[in-house]
Amino acid sequence: MTEPETAATAAGRPSGPMPPSMQFTPEGRLRHLLTIEGLSPELVTEILDTAESFVGMNAQTVKKVPLLRGKTVMNLFFEASTRTRTTFELAAKRLSADVLNINISTSSTVKGESLLDTLRNLQAMYVDMFVVRHADSGAAHFIARHVAPHVSVLNAGDGRHAHPTQALLDMFTIRRHKGDFSRLKVAIVGDILHSRVARSQIQALNLLGTGEVRVIGPKTLLPAHVEDLGVRPFHDIRTGLKDVDVIIMLRLQRERMDSGLLPSEHEFFQLWGLNEERLALAAPDAIVMHPGPANRGVEIDSRVADGPRSVILEQVTYGIAVRMAVMSLIVGASVNQGAAQ
Ligand code: NCD
Repeated sequence: MTEPETAATAAGRPSGPMPPSMQFTPEGRLRHLLTIEGLSPELVTEILDTAESFVGMNAQTVKKVPLLRGKTVMNLFFEASTRTRTTFELAAKRLSADVLNINISTSSTVKGESLLDTLRNLQAMYVDMFVVRHADSGAAHFIARHVAPHVSVLNAGDGRHAHPTQALLDMFTIRRHKGDFSRLKVAIVGDILHSRVARSQIQALNLLGTGEVRVIGPKTLLPAHVEDLGVRPFHDIRTGLKDVDVIIMLRLQRERMDSGLLPSEHEFFQLWGLNEERLALAAPDAIVMHPGPANRGVEIDSRVADGPRSVILEQVTYGIAVRMAVMSLIVGASVNQGAAQ
């Protein structure tokens, strides 16, 4: 997990990611959310607190507030997604925005139009916010560098670089169950090397002062010098899980893997999969998380995924409130104005 590769887009090759400070307006307000890097602990806490106020609302019959009324949000997904795209869409709709989903497989980019031309055309439709997922690391930064000054970009996952809203919803889930981060031991297990989720989670956990962040996996799936990210590496799952309060399992990102990194899924499960026996090594009230999609029998046993310690579906639910919080803070809407309609 070094610096993200540049986005090799049809539009040309960007010169690299923008500095994290570029996520803010000159007045210091959040304009884009591209990475956790460069956010302050206070801002992350404000996002989580704001999300808290939306959680109750999402459970009510009337689920809408007018905070993004008149705004247009465009979901621009160049890569498959179920949870992220849908919860972004729901979040925008619950804030009363107009939402458009662009199906990239049928869009002009496959007909040879450059990403930049596509972007300019979409922008000409008075879009206020782009939610972008792309297979290339740096793609969201690239788009953010080229949008008009009133437009915001939210990174919904770029290559193996970052997935900031996933990390925020994970922090929200952990805070709801465990409270104070400083007393927690959190273990992230599996394919850390190819995971944009892990990278953003590690940054967010460290930002919030987590007691200990562990990464557990085979050497081939941990980045070189992983300690430099502020984590403690373990190459044995039994030692790594000992007494942890939170276990985050990750999917094997086969689409980003060079062949030969792994023997077989069966063998991976034998060595690194989370089963009930291994879960028993963690703290008695440990929670089990997974950003999804989870592969049962590869990184996680069904009895654990569906068991009493799993909060995997809560993560999905909280994704709506957290994405609502990010969008409303970006447009500068005060949540108190947003009385239910
Ligand atoms: C993750 C992603 O796409 O980065 N999933 C998600 O957003 N919920 C993780 C994954 O694909 O394994």
